[in-house]
Amino acid sequence: MPSILIIDDEDNYLELCRRYMPEHSFLPPARNYRETAAALRRYAGQVDLVLLDVHFNIPDAELLPHDKQPLLARGGDPAKVFERLRRSQGLYILDQIRQSHPDLPVIVMTSRDDLPLEADAERLRAEDYTYLLADDYLDARALKLQIDGILAQRERHVAAASEPFYWGNSAAMIGLRRRLGILARGRLPVIIQGATGTGKSLVAREFIHPRSERAGPFVAVDLSTLPNDLMAAHLFGVVKGAYTGATSSREGVLARAHGGTLFLDEIGNLGLELQKSLLLVLQEGTYRPIGATKELQTDIKLVVATNENLAAMVRAGRFREDLYMRLNPATAVTLPGLRERRDDFQELLEWFMRRVTAEAYNRDLLAQYALQRGLPAPGPNDNLAVTVGRSIPPRGDARRMHVLLHPSSFKLLQEFDWPGNFRQFEMTLSNLLTFTLVDLVDRPERIEPEDLGEAGRPDIIPILPRTVSDLLRPMTAPAASEAPVEEVAADGADLARLAIVVRPGESLNAVSCAVERQYLEHLYERCLGDLGKMGEILLNDAGAGRKIQLRMNQLGIKLRRLKRRADG
Ligand SMILES: Nc1ncnc2c1ncn2[C@@H]1O[C@H](COP(=O)(O)OP(=O)(O)OP(=O)(O)O)[C@@H](O)[C@H]1O
Ligand SMILES: [Mg+2]
Repeated sequence: MPSILIIDDEDNYLELCRRYMPEHSFLPPARNYRETAAALRRYAGQVDLVLLDVHFNIPDAELLPHDKQPLLARGGDPAKVFERLRRSQGLYILDQIRQSHPDLPVIVMTSRDDLPLEADAERLRAEDYTYLLADDYLDARALKLQIDGILAQRERHVAAASEPFYWGNSAAMIGLRRRLGILARGRLPVIIQGATGTGKSLVAREFIHPRSERAGPFVAVDLSTLPNDLMAAHLFGVVKGAYTGATSSREGVLARAHGGTLFLDEIGNLGLELQKSLLLVLQEGTYRPIGATKELQTDIKLVVATNENLAAMVRAGRFREDLYMRLNPATAVTLPGLRERRDDFQELLEWFMRRVTAEAYNRDLLAQYALQRGLPAPGPNDNLAVTVGRSIPPRGDARRMHVLLHPSSFKLLQEFDWPGNFRQFEMTLSNLLTFTLVDLVDRPERIEPEDLGEAGRPDIIPILPRTVSDLLRPMTAPAASEAPVEEVAADGADLARLAIVVRPGESLNAVSCAVERQYLEHLYERCLGDLGKMGEILLNDAGAGRKIQLRMNQLGIKLRRLKRRADG
C-alpha cells in the first residue's frame, strides 16, 4: 500500500484523504519543517508521495529559513516579514526536501491567497516530480485523480528503474541531475561540456531526450567525424541536381529530427558558415537545403556537446558569438570526470562492476566458473554482489556469487588517472572481470589459497591486485620521447610498416599493448588525425573510426595531445 506524507499545519487534507482514499496509507502528518525532516528520516525510502500545503499558520520560531536576519535586516515591518514567510512557508520546505529527495513526488497545494506562489509557479512546473494543484475549495476528486496518476507513473518508473546513466548520491550529482531535468523540459538549447567518456552522449540520448517529452525522434550527429565538405548536406539536406553528384534529393538531419531532439556532438567542429545557418534555425526555425529555393520549417530541441571551451573559441574568433549566446551558455552543464568523483568512487566501482557482470561474455565465463565450483549458474537476472574489502558478508543465498575487491585492488583503481573517464573505467572493469574469470577457470593452480579469502569459499570471485596492475600498467602511457618510432617506409606509401621499440614488460599483455600503442599513435599522426582513414587502413572500413577511437582511449592514448602535435 503506497504511503503518503501530508505536510500541513491543519488537518483538513488529512481528514479528506482518509475519507476518500482508504486504499492509501497516510503517515502521521508533519506540521512544520522540523517534523518533516524527522518524518523523512524515520520513514526513509517508504514515502511514495508528499502532499504539501503552502500557507502555514505556525509560530515564528518554527518558520524557515532558520536564519531570518538577512530578511529582517532589509528593513520593513518584522510582522509583515513573518506574515510573508507564513504564506510561502511550503516553498521553503520544498527547497529543503529537494536537497535530500530530488525525485520524491510532491504535490504542492496552492490557493489564491498564497501570493508568493505566482512568481514561483513557472519554476515549480518545470521541475520533475513537483506538481501544483490549485485547490481553493478542497476537491477530493481532483486530488485523488492527481495522486493516483502520480503513483501509477511512479510504479512505471520503478519498473524501468535501471537508468543507464549512473548519477550516484553525492550532492553535486543530485543537483546536476535536477538541473538537467529542468533544462530538458524547457525549449532552450542545452550545452553539455565534459572530457571524453564522461557520458555527454549518453545523457543527451537517455536522459534529456526522454524528459523533453517531445514526440519526435532523437537524432545524433558527431561533427568531429563528419568531413567538412559533407557537413552542410548532412545537416540541411540536398536538392537533386544542386551540384554534380547530387543525383537525388536527400533529407538532412534537421528534417529528420523535426519534433524531436537534435544532438550535435563536438559542436566546436562546425565551420563558421554553417554556424550562421544554425543560428537561423535557432532564431527563425527555418533553414534552406542545399540547392533549394524555398526555406523549410523545423522544430527541434537542440542539445550540443563539446569538450572544447566554446567561450575561448569565441574569443579566438573560431566560434560566432551570436550563435554562442543563442545556445544558452548561462545554463551550460559540465559533467565531471572520474577523477573528480573520488568521493563516491566506491559506489561508482560497485555500480559499474555490477553492470559488467551482466555482459554476455562475462555471463558465459561466470557460468563456467560456477559449474567448476559446484554452484548453480547465475541466471540472466541474478545480480552478482560486489564487495570492496577484506572479507565478505556470510553466505546467504546459495545462488549469489560475490565479486570481492581486495583493498589493494581498490586502491590501485582509485588512484589511477582514468583519462578516458567512465568509458575507459567500464572497459577496464569488464576486462578485469574477464581476465580474472579466465584465470580462475583455466589456471586454477595459479591462484593461491589465501587469494580466495574466507577459506576458499566457492561463491567468491577475488579480483587480485596483481590482475589489476597488469591491466592498468599498459594504459599508463609513457612520455612520447620514451617511445621513439623509426620509420622504415620512406615515402609513406606503406603505412603498415614501421619500426617499433619493444621493451620487456611485466606481462605479455603489457608488451603487446605498448606495441599497439606505438603503432596506433604513429598511424594517427600519419593520417593527420583522420580516424576514418585509420579505419580504412586497419579494418578496410572507413566507418570504423569510432571503434578505433575507443581502442585508443582504452590504451590510454591522449588524442588531444597527439592532435596538437599533428597540428603544430
Ligand atoms: N554516469 C555514467 N553512467 C553509466 N555509464 C556511463 C556514465 N558515463 C559514461 N558512461 C559510459 O561511458 C560510455 C561513454 O559515454 P559517452 O559516449 O556518453 O561519453 P562522451 O562524454 O560523449 O564521450 P566523447 O566525448 O568521447 O564522445 C557510455 O557508453 C557508458 O557506457
Ligand atoms: Mg560523445
